[in-house]
Amino acid sequence: MPNATENPLQELLVEQLKDLYSAENQIIKALPKMAKNATNPELRAAFETHLEETRGQVERLEQIADEMDIRTLKGKKCKGAEGLIEEGKEVMDEFEEDVLDAGLIGAAQKVEHYEIAAYGTARTHANMLGLKKVARLLQQTLDEEGRTDKKLTQLAENIVNIEALQEA
Ligand SMILES: [Fe+2]
Repeated sequence: MPNATENPLQELLVEQLKDLYSAENQIIKALPKMAKNATNPELRAAFETHLEETRGQVERLEQIADEMDIRTLKGKKCKGAEGLIEEGKEVMDEFEEDVLDAGLIGAAQKVEHYEIAAYGTARTHANMLGLKKVARLLQQTLDEEGRTDKKLTQLAENIVNIEALQEA
């Protein structure tokens, strides 16, 4: 039950932040394996860069928790991220080399789009609640996720060797 001092929308925002905190931590666990499985060195580097960025995003969520006096963001499991990461694992089991890279990019972009939706919603709710600093921090992560998504699209277009695939 929402406590009397808190707006129910704020309760919802806290739940969304916990979900994101779980998602980011699951992604931190998944990215090294995706980097290891990537064939193309640029794709591997992009996953490694995003791993570092994701660590910063977790710190940003902790900063938001401080700002909002949330005792902890732990204790919730993001099932959305769990399912998307699971799909990435299926790709790794089924494909190799260039097609694997194409599949890994697709799996990573599904995760990015999930995060973009979740951060966008949280940012909007923070704004509606007048939590300007929180909204600004969420926007920073949202911008990073957007850049990562664009970078992955570029990689999909540039690194996957379509001729080699046709010869196979
Ligand atoms: Fe993220």
